[in-house]
Amino acid sequence: MFKFQLIKKEGNARLGKIYTPHGEIETPIFMPVGTQGTVKAITVKHLEEDIKAQIILGNTYHLYLRPGLEVLKKFNGLHNFSSWKKPILTDSGGFQVFSLSIGKEKEGKQKAQVVVTEEGVKFKSHLDGSWHFFTPEFVVEIQEIIGSDIMMPLDECPPYPCSHQYAKESLERTVRWLKRSKQAKKNPNQALFGIIQGSVYEDLRKESTLKTVELDMDGYSIGGLSVGEPKEFMYSMTEVVTSLLPENKPRYLMGVGTPEDLLEAIDRGIDMFDCVIPTRNGRNGTLFTHFGKINIKSAKYKFDDTPVDPLCDCYTCKNFSKGYLRHLYNAEEITAYILGTIHNLRFYLKLMEDVRNAIKNESFSIFKKEFLDLYNSNI
Ligand code: GUN
Ligand code: ZN
Repeated sequence: MFKFQLIKKEGNARLGKIYTPHGEIETPIFMPVGTQGTVKAITVKHLEEDIKAQIILGNTYHLYLRPGLEVLKKFNGLHNFSSWKKPILTDSGGFQVFSLSIGKEKEGKQKAQVVVTEEGVKFKSHLDGSWHFFTPEFVVEIQEIIGSDIMMPLDECPPYPCSHQYAKESLERTVRWLKRSKQAKKNPNQALFGIIQGSVYEDLRKESTLKTVELDMDGYSIGGLSVGEPKEFMYSMTEVVTSLLPENKPRYLMGVGTPEDLLEAIDRGIDMFDCVIPTRNGRNGTLFTHFGKINIKSAKYKFDDTPVDPLCDCYTCKNFSKGYLRHLYNAEEITAYILGTIHNLRFYLKLMEDVRNAIKNESFSIFKKEFLDLYNSNI
């Protein structure tokens, strides 16, 4: 049921197609984040018709805590519950569990929100403080109840910076957890990827890649990046990993990134991305354009009757002016968050469309340069 087809390459950039039980995905692709079973501020109709999303993300940790497994079972999984009929990828919750713990420690509140053992990870719910235990097996079982097309295994995402020794121990544990996840998987219609860790250490990224590839997964995710490390590390680690990955499986760079990051990663052989940047920025008034980011709340747009981005084909740009959007944001009208999110997500999805066309026409390297020159020009 799950298959990846590599259609064409230009340098390391790849044009491909993923086949899933809920439809096909053209790659490179950006996946809007729908942590709680909805992409924030956006309906399924917007996603399909205005944004032209092909796959969205759900999150195991959040959906397990709320609405919970009984509700998901009653509704026969997330596709039916949410009415999103196209493919869904679920993250395992490993990242949420670990980033929650870091967040809490920074605030100087209680520690030990998370306890990692060989068996799994014990954590405290951010909703009501109750304790829960995730094992690799249980995380697969939850995702089988959710019914996602692509599942992520429970992994440990170390913080940055992190010692070589800790990064090594945690990547080796992540590999052992992956073996257990693979054994626990029952539904042949759902794909299971492996997650590569190893922090910013080249030798550990290599070790993690080789050990993960040995398990012959349906695809490979790169985790543990975009966690505060300098961008150069993110790019160099991506390159180290993709150079060791098989060509016939999809590669997913988790939690990345800005438009520049996407282009740099595609240039290094990545096929799939997710990130909260377009949705979060869409809600706070930071909008992407071909000429760079703008803050739509700025007074300079008060009388501006032009669209956010004249090169954008989205519902927002086709119907509304910067002056009107600025008014909606400043009045804190809910419509502002909807229109801003539609625009930003469409900007990301259109960028991926343009990239795919460029690879098809063997003009990706020119496209990348021209896009970045204009994007960084600040006209
Ligand atoms: N999202 C962003 N980074 C990561 C990661 O390292 N692991 C998981 N599971 N999800 C992520
Ligand atoms: Zn637009």
